[in-house]
Formats: sequence, structure tokens, C-alpha cells
Amino acid sequence: MKNIVIAGFMGTGKTKVAKILSARLNMKYVSTDRLVEEKEGISIREIFSKKGEGHFRKAENGAIKDAALMENVVIDAGGGVVVDPENLKNLKKKGMVVCLWADPGIILERTKKYTHRPLLNVRDPLGKIKELLKSRRPFYERADCHIDTSAMSAEEAADEIEGVIKNARTNR
Ligand code: S3P
Repeated sequence: MKNIVIAGFMGTGKTKVAKILSARLNMKYVSTDRLVEEKEGISIREIFSKKGEGHFRKAENGAIKDAALMENVVIDAGGGVVVDPENLKNLKKKGMVVCLWADPGIILERTKKYTHRPLLNVRDPLGKIKELLKSRRPFYERADCHIDTSAMSAEEAADEIEGVIKNARTNR
């Protein structure tokens, strides 16, 4: 079975959905953010503040290369991963890339209580969410399939993805 890559913007439910799928399908859960943090030995927040976003993106590229080589994994990809076409190419080699979406207002609601995402620690997070979604949309659209989680629980989103996987198998 192919790996499953859960991509999409921050706050679309990637981590919850990826963990549910990994438990249901008996596949290992891998987070590219955690791989970066393990390699750097500091949190993403600290990487951004001490070394800058450019450094984070390079470390993220390395994490994607490692994750893309793994077998039988559900990959929880950081929100900016697919903006680099090389990352998407690597992930698609062995994986089906599912992009989760949500409305900007929902993303704000889901993310506002946390401070670990440096890109949203700004004065106008909603404006930033809208701006980033607009510039990233063409990249997210290159995923293999898309699910809007705005009105869905993580379990329901995982059900949808399981349906897509079953369909892909029967249509082969
Ligand atoms: C980012 C998303 C974050 C994390 C970093 C940058 C982004 O991951 O990689 O803060 O550029 O969208 P999540 O989408 O898992 O929050």
C-alpha cells in the first residue's frame, strides 16, 4: 500500500487526521515538524526566531527526503511543505498526497489558542491566514485529492480518506 501524505494549511486538522488513519490502518505516524525538531534539537518556534525561516525550510526539505523514503507511513506534512515542488515530487514517489482545506475563519478558531506556529504569531492572524492561503493555493491544488474539513470532525475526514483509498484500489 502507498504511503499517505496529509498536507494542507495550518489548522485544517492534519495531525488529528493523520493519527487516526495511522491507528486505523496500522501504519506508522510520522510528522515532518517533529523530524525537523529532532534533528535541530530545538522547537520550530526557536528555529524561526534564532535561525530564520530559510533555515527551517532547508531542514524541512531534508525531513521530507527522509520521510519520503519510509514504508507504510502516514506522513503529517507541515503546512508549507508542498510550496516547494521538489518536496511534493519526493512525497508523490511513494505516497498519495491528500490536501486538507478549511475556511480562513475556521482556521483562525482552531489555531488562535496556540503559540507554536510562528507564522501566525502576528497582529492580524486572520489577514495572514488569508494572504498565505491565497499565495499557496496553486501549490496545494497539486495534491492528489482534496477534503474540506471546515464542517467535519477529524474522524469524518479520516472516513473520507479511507473511502478515497478504497476507490483508488478498486479502480486500479
Ligand atoms: C508552517 C506550518 C507548521 C510548521 C511551521 C510552518 C507553515 O506546521 O511547519 O510552523 O508554513 O504553514 P502545521 O501545519 O503542522 O502547523
